[in-house]
Amino acid sequence: MAKKQVAIDKLINGKQRVEKYDYLITKNEPLSFATESFQKIVIDLDYTNLDNDHKVLQFTSTLPSEGKSTFVSNIAYLLSQKNKKVILLDLDLRKPKINRAFSVPNKNGITDYISSKITLEEAIKTSEDLGIDFMVAGENTSLVTNVLESNKMKELIDSLRERYDYVLLDTPPVMAVSDAIVVSRYTDGIIFIIAQGKAKKKLVKESIQTLKRYDVNILGIVFNQVKMGQAGYGYMNDYSYYQDKND
Ligand SMILES: Nc1ncnc2c1ncn2[C@@H]1O[C@H](COP(=O)(O)OP(=O)(O)OP(=O)(O)O)[C@@H](O)[C@H]1O
Ligand SMILES: [Mg+2]
Repeated sequence: MAKKQVAIDKLINGKQRVEKYDYLITKNEPLSFATESFQKIVIDLDYTNLDNDHKVLQFTSTLPSEGKSTFVSNIAYLLSQKNKKVILLDLDLRKPKINRAFSVPNKNGITDYISSKITLEEAIKTSEDLGIDFMVAGENTSLVTNVLESNKMKELIDSLRERYDYVLLDTPPVMAVSDAIVVSRYTDGIIFIIAQGKAKKKLVKESIQTLKRYDVNILGIVFNQVKMGQAGYGYMNDYSYYQDKND
């Protein structure tokens, strides 16, 4: 069996995590159960955005490695398949990963644009293969909070809001750093990802309470990496989505 296939098998069966970001299950396995789950979520997101007021969406979780970057990359792909104009931003400036989903170096990105080293057009990249635009994190900086809190960042998000149907923001976990809270002031809502068996319930509750304390609009919660056959849960790679009906 070809080496690539082995890696994918391990990923899907969840037996062993393999860092494989350029493998979009929604693109490579369009008929899979996981893709079906994603499609349900995309329908919900589109429905929530009927009035075009839920288009800047942030993705976060309680702890690292709960599947945020993998999840948002697949959502971006499916939205573009619905002919939506989508841009994906890697706002995890401390641990950037989105560039891997597009197999490009983490160069000429958001931090380079905010520090006026490059123009916006130079910072926005296009994946013809996936039909979406994206911005990688860019040069490593020790002034992450300054970058995220800058007026130029706010203006950037506002200008992208005018140009795209969806602006998707991949951000660090809530419990690691304050970045997710800082970014939340620019967004219409958060999709909160919970990987089964990762963060203790108490910690998940704490991070959701932290978001609520800052009046963050939690649009929905996604249960990710759900183990196969668990009562009430779907198959591995099944994403269950719970929308905040109050929204
Ligand atoms: N549904 C899933 N089933 C199996 N493995 C998954 C799933 N989602 C993500 N993974 C794997 O889990 C690991 C972490 O995924 P990912 O980088 O997307 O998480 P993250 O929340 O963005 O992490 P970080 O906090 O470091 O940014 C990767 O190896 C990825 O392939
Ligand atoms: Mg990530």
